[in-house]
Amino acid sequence: MSTIGGEKIPNNVDLGGDKRLQRALEAWQPSFLRWWQDMGPAGFQADRVFLRTAVSVEPDGWAHFDYVKMPDYRWGIFLADAVPDRRIGFGDHMGEPAWQQIPGEYRNALRRIVVSQGDTEPASVEQQRLLGRTCPSQYDLRNLFQVNVEEGRHLWAMVYLLHSYFGRDGREEAEELLNRRSGDADKPRILGAFNEPIEDWLSFFMFTYFTDRDGKFQLLALAESAFDPLSRTTRFMLTEEAHHMFVGETGVLRAVERTAQVMKESGKDHPDDLRRLGVIDLPTIQRYLNLWFSVSLDLFGGEISSNAATFFSTGIKGRAKEDDYPDHVALTGSYGLEVPRDGALVREEVPMRNAMNEVVRDAYIEDCQRGVDRWNKAIEAAGVPFRLTLPSRRFHRKIGVYGESRFDPAGKLIRDADWHAGVAAWLPGDADRAHVRGLMTAPVTAPGRMAGWLAPPRQGIKGRPVDFEYVRSAEA
Ligand SMILES: [Fe+2]
Ligand SMILES: [Fe+2]
Repeated sequence: MSTIGGEKIPNNVDLGGDKRLQRALEAWQPSFLRWWQDMGPAGFQADRVFLRTAVSVEPDGWAHFDYVKMPDYRWGIFLADAVPDRRIGFGDHMGEPAWQQIPGEYRNALRRIVVSQGDTEPASVEQQRLLGRTCPSQYDLRNLFQVNVEEGRHLWAMVYLLHSYFGRDGREEAEELLNRRSGDADKPRILGAFNEPIEDWLSFFMFTYFTDRDGKFQLLALAESAFDPLSRTTRFMLTEEAHHMFVGETGVLRAVERTAQVMKESGKDHPDDLRRLGVIDLPTIQRYLNLWFSVSLDLFGGEISSNAATFFSTGIKGRAKEDDYPDHVALTGSYGLEVPRDGALVREEVPMRNAMNEVVRDAYIEDCQRGVDRWNKAIEAAGVPFRLTLPSRRFHRKIGVYGESRFDPAGKLIRDADWHAGVAAWLPGDADRAHVRGLMTAPVTAPGRMAGWLAPPRQGIKGRPVDFEYVRSAEA
């Protein structure tokens, strides 16, 4: 039951059959569009962009590609197909029918989860709103806008849940999702990584690789939820998230490829020489990686968490790919966690349910490593003796058991003085940011042209060539 018909809000949830809900969402829509005009991509709202639009959830036909002005994008509400007789797959209610309505006692916890997820979606659009002005190519500009409009759709997905299942509280929360602003001192977004500015394209690629991947794991964990509408919503969002991570993985890859190529051709390896040659030296790429990996790790929450235990026991939120775990009740067993105490790391056994954040973080780290391996293959292929590495999960953490201590990228507990002595080598500093931004002072907009710091992609979008006109300027 796909719908790209005449409705104001494309959907596969039979919105027309629930007039009250339809009216509420149609009343929210102008606020959303105002927010998009104010906080969406700056300067490109009148251009026509070659975008895919979700039109149904069928695997072979959900995405429709065409030129569209971003404010005319058909943001819609799509839930993955219902699984017949779906049962709760973990926790204390394991085996019971999944919930089509929210049990009253879990309402507040679920609302908090939906709001936290929903808040990240507009936040990332706000963080990225100026990037179009410094795009390294039309291909990349189009990918940025694709990510942006889909984050807008993810906001719609969460707002649909708030309006449908959380009554007046939900409607108020939906308004608030449009009122908070990334990085704002008075009304910041809820989670730390979503208040970090994204002012250059290396940060954008790191964000879409590491932070959108956190999104993937949160969505996978919510796809296990006993609350079936949340499960179905997040399962469909995951199809869009895959593209965002592709943009990040290939974006970093292309930056690395270009640098390695220039290193090979010039025979230079000193960062100062490479900066003069107009590329991003690999140690700087490593520092950006360290930053975005560590802030994204914080998004999984504390290592020892009674909230996580409650979410798991109640069935509100599972582990990513719950099926892969042998024990879905997790009342026995423990997780061995290295905890800093009196200047040393000591192993503590944490009851499994309380360690669920750490279990999901483990799966995330493993997933992150894959792209790093791919980047290293490109460096190796150029004969350059340098390897990118994921820093320890303890490095540069603000949340959880490691947040109060200092660790070096290898995960060694260090003193404050050692941190201050080392940090310039570990995290991007002013000079790094100035160099990266200096490479991106003007947009590269001729079809097929690439900024000098970035290798071209292997192929274009949806069978189109790399030099396709992905963004048609309103002035042209
Ligand atoms: Fe999203
Ligand atoms: Fe995303």
